[in-house]
Amino acid sequence: MNSSPWWKEATIYQIYPRSFFDSNGDGEGDLPGVTSKLDYVKSLGVDAIWLSPFYTSPNKDGGYDVANPRDVDPRFGNLEDARELITQAHKRDLRVIADIVPNHFSDQHEWFQAALKSKRGSKERERFHFYDANEDGTPPNNWISLFGGPSWTQVEDGQFYLHLFDSSQPDLNWENPEVNADFEKTLRFWIDLGVDGFRIDVAHGLIKEDVLTNHPDPQGLSNALRLDVAMDSEERNALLLTVPYFDRQGVHEIYRKWRKLFDSYTGREIMAVAEAWVHPPVNATRYVRADELHQVFNFDLLTAEFDSDVLFDVVERSISLNATVNALPTWALSNHDSPRVASRIGDEQARALALFVFGLPGSTYVFAGQELGLPDGQLQDSDRQDPTFFRTNGAIKGRDGARVPLPWSGDTTPFGFSTAKPWLPISQGWKDLTIENELADPKSSLHLYKNALELRKEFLVGAGGITWLESSQHGHKSDSLLSYSRGSITVVMNLSDSAAECDAAGKLIIVSGGTVDARDGKKVIPARSTAWFLT
Ligand code: GLC
Ligand code: CA
Repeated sequence: MNSSPWWKEATIYQIYPRSFFDSNGDGEGDLPGVTSKLDYVKSLGVDAIWLSPFYTSPNKDGGYDVANPRDVDPRFGNLEDARELITQAHKRDLRVIADIVPNHFSDQHEWFQAALKSKRGSKERERFHFYDANEDGTPPNNWISLFGGPSWTQVEDGQFYLHLFDSSQPDLNWENPEVNADFEKTLRFWIDLGVDGFRIDVAHGLIKEDVLTNHPDPQGLSNALRLDVAMDSEERNALLLTVPYFDRQGVHEIYRKWRKLFDSYTGREIMAVAEAWVHPPVNATRYVRADELHQVFNFDLLTAEFDSDVLFDVVERSISLNATVNALPTWALSNHDSPRVASRIGDEQARALALFVFGLPGSTYVFAGQELGLPDGQLQDSDRQDPTFFRTNGAIKGRDGARVPLPWSGDTTPFGFSTAKPWLPISQGWKDLTIENELADPKSSLHLYKNALELRKEFLVGAGGITWLESSQHGHKSDSLLSYSRGSITVVMNLSDSAAECDAAGKLIIVSGGTVDARDGKKVIPARSTAWFLT
């Protein structure tokens, strides 16, 4: 028996509930829809699901604008549906991770409504960041929201409130003990309902410093902080070092308290993963010190080019930095905030990279639809719903492309997702990418994921660290190959556009595309492909 905690080297499947499966024909996915598809989820070979928010929300930011964190929005069902989902997941030995959004509430939350009705300086306003206007009437500072436009909105009596995201998402004031008390109540609420862990939204954002100070390049900074804005990495990294509102020391005190709360549930192994995109990367390890959280997302693979030097650096750095705090890394190629990996680096490359990453130590996150090789949906501007699109007057298209509902079955859109018009259109061009079709095709991306996750479980979970075999960075010849061995498996990725020979010993057990030939005692790895060999 493996006594390691369940989350240590888990594969976690991210479900965006609105886009997964619609059970009641209103065009939007919901909790009963997720429950009805848990057999599919289980068949992928994943260990857990992470559900993006399904709480009461006006849905200005896809539910990350929470109006009541301890209830379910009617569009998704009700609390009974949430309980049933958890029960059914547990029956299948799937853990459930809920998303918690502590940086801000929705402006529809009762606290913010009370703050609007109260006076400047009142205890109701103290729960948020309300400040007077500058003498010339301008907002307290020049910060730009991560969704574009000013980070401040003025209320009737002339005060401004801070919102790092949409104006409907007022930032909470974590210096006020009432805020933590309320969040601890929320954590307990969901743990008591049965969840096994939390994904902490904007985990690095809760403590603000220098709220009245201007930034020298607020627009550049806002762009640098967005996964869907392409930017030269040096320029991005330089800007990321200057963020005044992320990664302040005070956030760690909060997570130390939360860790005690989690650990007080003896026998439950409650885990938490931080969404903390911080710079320099070593700072991320602070979130996973022994008395803080269990995992922190590594965002590098969401933006990394398909290039052996870049990928070598990302993998090496992530493993070694985490090792300094005795933690294992996490890997994600896609999520609901970034372009889908198949669109970003190419279809074959996306498969190759997935197979490469599934061999690595740590936890892997798979965004629903990634297993199908889905590209970003092609949307008209009139379809778009992301607040970024509106707040930048269309200059930044936003994240809707990654959030198009899943194609399940049949020959015509919306491919079984719903009996109604889906909330975002599904292209007829996705006909071959339905779950039904991919299940029938042994060469599909879906089968690659299923097979790889099964092999990962059989040979690699708990198999310890990696040894690099090929990488141009440590004296080996090839730029096109990246290869490591771990346990009894050798993983070889060929990043180039032509087949490449390697010395890997052992028996081929899986390849992401094409066929591996043997030539003069060498193995020939197809272009843009990864293979695993068992010795
Ligand atoms: C996180 C979420 C994103 C959301 C933002 C504000 O980055 O992943 O979807 O818009 O926080 O809550
Ligand atoms: Ca529905």
